[in-house]
Parts: sequence; structure tokens; C-alpha cells
Amino acid sequence: MDSYTNGVKGIILAGGTGSRLFPITRAVSKQLLPIYDKPMIYYPLSTLMLAGLREILLITTPHDQAAFTRLLGDGSQLGLSIEYVVQDQPNGLAEALILGEEFLGGDKCALILGDNLFYGPGLGTHLRANTSVDGALIFAYQVSDPAAYGVVEFDDAGTVLSIEEKPEQPKSSYAVPGIYFYDEKAPLLARRLRPSERGELEITALNNAYLELGALRVEVLSRATTWLDTGTHESLYEAGGLIRTLQHRTGMRIGDVEQIARDQSWI
Ligand code: G1P
Repeated sequence: MDSYTNGVKGIILAGGTGSRLFPITRAVSKQLLPIYDKPMIYYPLSTLMLAGLREILLITTPHDQAAFTRLLGDGSQLGLSIEYVVQDQPNGLAEALILGEEFLGGDKCALILGDNLFYGPGLGTHLRANTSVDGALIFAYQVSDPAAYGVVEFDDAGTVLSIEEKPEQPKSSYAVPGIYFYDEKAPLLARRLRPSERGELEITALNNAYLELGALRVEVLSRATTWLDTGTHESLYEAGGLIRTLQHRTGMRIGDVEQIARDQSWI
């Protein structure tokens, strides 16, 4: 579609049951819930757009696909191309690379989770400079509750030793946010993964596969960047409040996909 994207495509994973938000998510997809004045999916979509990606695959559950299509269509109104694929069962985040293999057609990609919200000055420019990776690029962000996430273990020199998924005894307070840049090998490596004890193809297992190949880069995200996930009642409420506060205070809009498309002269 656009030479500007350098053969890098975006995948948004908006599957899952949202069970931690029951009963809200019994009838509505988590990623369509409001974060203040926009549907949740706008925020990760805007992050991919700020990274300069215009070819997007949206992965949803079978029953939620129609609602996402009503919201975003084929993306042309935003100067994007949006395609859809369903994830039949919540088989894990790494399955996104297998479900996306045909869409990627041998290209590199950025995978972002539909419930992850990033905000920070210069984030788009920074991501844009990093989209075309050899191997994998993931991030680390200091949090107060690392046990809820993938956790990075560093040695004294800052070299990554391991990544553990939701460890009971986290080896650091650095969690892995839900945005990942992969090279062309990701679908192949994802196919080789075996399900974890909870029966899922873990994204952490894919990242560890890159680590074993010596092809994983982990970058610590600056404190100037805000990363929120919105999977619990508390975090959902906090995220809405934060967006409201920032927008009121600055008069700028966050996650406004139409405005971003206009700013980039895509529409
Ligand atoms: C997933 C990943 C985890 C990552 C997190 C980011 O966890 O498995 O490694 O740190 O997303 O939001 P989930 O939120 O699906 O439990």
C-alpha cells in the first residue's frame, strides 16, 4: 500500500474472553469498552498509526468481528487498510503470528494487544524509527505489580537473561508491555511453540525463542511514556480518568485516530 511502511505491517490482537471484567464483557468485547470518550481499540490502533503503519490486521473472536467491522470497516476512512481474522479459541497471544501469517506474506510486523494503552511525547517518532527490526524488539517498563505480566530478568550489565510469564517470584520489576516488533521469522517460530501449562501459545515463549537465537532486543521504556493495560475494573477506570485528565488539561486529544490520519495527510 505504501512504501513508507517499509514492508512492516501491524497486527492488533483483540481476542480473549475478558473474563476479569465479567459481567461487563459477557456481551461486549473488552476492546470495544469506552476509555473515557473512545472505544479501547482506538488507543492501540493510534499507536500503530503513529508508528507509521497503515496495513493492519485485526484479530477478534468469531462473535465480535461484526462489531469491530461496524466500527472500523476496511479502514479507508482513516487512510488505512484493515483486514480481519478470527481467533476461534483463546489459544494465546503468540497464535496471532500464525493467524496473521498469510496477511504478513513474509513481511515484518508490529503486534499490539488491543487492551494496551501507550501515551508519551515522542513515542510515535521513536516507534517509527524502530519498526523494521532484525530479530525481535520488545520493551520493558517498571511497574509495581510485575507478577501480573511477562517479566524481564537483566544481569548487572543490562543483558537480558530470561523472560518469565507471570512469575510468582518476579526477578525484576520490569514488565513487558503488549507491543512487540518481529522480523519475518515470527510465524515460523510461533508454529514451533508448544502450549504452556495453561494451554496457551505464550508470547513470552516466542520472545524466549528469539532470545535463544540471540536475536532479542529489550529496550527500557522511558518514564516519560505511560503504559497502561486495561484488563481489570481498576485499570479500566484509571485509564479513563487519565485520558480525561490529560485531554482536559492540555486540550489535546489522545488516541484520536481520525485526527492522526489527518495530521499524517492520509485522508
Ligand atoms: C499478556 C502477556 C504478558 C504481557 C501482558 C501485557 O498478558 O502474556 O507477557 O506482559 O500481556 O499487557 P495478559 O494481559 O494477556 O494476561
